[in-house]
Parts: sequence; C-alpha cells; structure tokens
Amino acid sequence: MENKIIIITGATSGVGKATAFELAKPENKLFLIARNKQKGEELKKQILGIKPKANIELLYADLSLQNDIKKLASDFKTRQNKLDVLINCAGLVSSERVETKEGIEQTLAVNYISHYLLSHLLSEELKNAKQGRIINVASLIPPIAKINFRDIHSKKNYSGVTAYLQSKLADVMFTYDLAEQLKNTNVTVNAVHPGIVKTNLGVETSKGALQGFVRFCMSFISITPEKSAERVLYLTNSNNLSKITGKYFKGGQNPVKTNSFSYNLDNRKKLSELTKALIGEK
Ligand SMILES: NC(=O)c1ccc[n+]([C@@H]2O[C@H](COP(=O)([O-])OP(=O)(O)OC[C@H]3O[C@@H](n4cnc5c(N)ncnc54)[C@H](OP(=O)(O)O)[C@@H]3O)[C@@H](O)[C@H]2O)c1
Repeated sequence: MENKIIIITGATSGVGKATAFELAKPENKLFLIARNKQKGEELKKQILGIKPKANIELLYADLSLQNDIKKLASDFKTRQNKLDVLINCAGLVSSERVETKEGIEQTLAVNYISHYLLSHLLSEELKNAKQGRIINVASLIPPIAKINFRDIHSKKNYSGVTAYLQSKLADVMFTYDLAEQLKNTNVTVNAVHPGIVKTNLGVETSKGALQGFVRFCMSFISITPEKSAERVLYLTNSNNLSKITGKYFKGGQNPVKTNSFSYNLDNRKKLSELTKALIGEK
C-alpha cells in the first residue's frame, strides 16, 4: 500500500466529509481544511472514533480570503514538501450577494478562486509526489452556463444560481488550462461533478425559488454524500487515471465533454487574465 499525503478542502461537511472518512487510513496522511475550529475538531474526533489509526491534521482557513489561502499553503509547506492529492471540494451557493473584504463576490471566491490559488501555490509540492493529482469538485455544467466577463462579481443582476454556475464553469475552464500548463509534469488535474447530493449546500444560504429548488433536490433526487464521494475517490485512487488530465467526469469511468463555452480559447484567455488580475498576478 502506498503512503499518500492528501489535502481536502470543505472537509467538514457533505461530499468532502464523506471523502475524508474513506481516505482516513493509517497509510494516508490527511490534511483536512476547515474554517471553523469547533467543526474541525469535531470532525477529527468523529473520524478517530471510527478509525483510531487514521493520520489526521487540521488546518484552518476561510477560503473566501486569498490571505487565508496563502497562509494555509505556507502552513502546509512548513510541514511537508510533497503533496500527492489536492481535493478542492469547498463550495457554496447563496441567494444573497456577499462581497468578501478583498472585494470578490464570495461564490466566485470560494468555488473558483480558492481552487485556483491553492492549486497554483502547491504545484511544486504536487510535482514532488510520484504522481500528483488535483481534483476540482465542480458541478453540472449546463449548455447555458457562461462567464459574465463584464461583471464577474455579479454587481448588477445577482442571482445565486447564475453566480454558482459561473463559478463552477470557471473551475472547469481552469482545470483545462492548468492541465495544459502541467502537461510535461507528473501532475494531473481533473474536475468532477459530484452528483445531486443531500448535503448542507444552500440549506442555510438560500431563500425563495433557490431554497425551493435546493429542498426539492435534497428531498427527491439526491444521492448520499457517501455515494457521491465514490466519484471523488475514483479520481483519487484509480491507476487508470495516472496519465489522464484536463478532463471532466460526471460519475462514469470515462470523462465527458462540458459546454462549448468552456473550450473556447478566447474565453479561456479572458478568464485567465481576469483571474490573474483578481489575485494580483501579472
Ligand atoms: N450537493 C450537491 O448537490 C452538489 C452538486 C454539485 C456540486 N456540488 C459541489 O460539491 C462540493 C461540496 O459541497 P457539498 O454539497 O458537500 O456542500 P456542503 O455540505 O455545504 O459542504 C461545503 C463545504 O465547503 C466548506 N466551505 C464553504 N465556504 C467556505 C469558506 N469560505 N471557507 C472554508 N470552507 C468553506 C464548508 O464548510 P462549513 O462546514 O464550515 O460550512 C463545507 O465543509 C461543493 O464544491 C459544491 O459546489 C455539490
């Protein structure tokens, strides 16, 4: 059995939590990322209650904030110089438009920028692994999903669903770009739709029509977090995927295509430039 060092964001709930429970084995060193100390400690206690030999360390960050993400990456680097798997799972959907104190619309900040920034900041550690993997937990990407380049922070017409789909599309587009950048390395980057899953997603942050939609999905058409985690675990563990990169999975063993917007190179270039500006990179 191989020893793996694994980071999971969004580990305190839903898909991330179910994934953490499965990967909690003595041979894996898990770094679980939480924003709330109490939730983090409770999670560790729960896992150790069932798997006493699990090797778990908690690290804390509010992933809507780039300063926290940078501190998280540097905290990790003081502990390890290699990373086998980065599972970017943290995410949210919200009826209310919230801007972070760094001036970014929060859905975009957590669902996209945190995945982007953490992947870039930890790329050297991923290259130090035998075969590094980045797994971006995305979503369904419907044909209508697009990026509003003129108003990426949704300042004018905010809709929770539109902001969510935009952030997830950005996550997928950056998966394709980063895979291209890393193609001559041992690091793969893939995205996965976890399914419609009964979790806390949108339960406390949605109102009106979005709340109705969330309730309907959670009650009638959802799968369990454990079932959903199987999709993430497939991307984490499958030997068949050691050379597969820049792909999007939707539950099957083989990747599927996303919408045409996501493959358009002008769109990808615009997103990449905009993102660099948002994170203060040239
Ligand atoms: N559930 C679905 O049907 C569905 C469908 C498509 C895609 N997804 C995606 O799957 C991923 C997991 O979602 P889930 O369904 O498991 O939802 P969830 O139960 O609400 O879990 C979301 C996780 O993200 C964390 N998080 C949110 N904002 C954060 C922040 N600012 N800083 C740090 N952590 C933050 C949450 O922390 P707290 O525990 O502190 O809140 C929690 O651990 C998300 O990316 C979501 O978009 C879910």
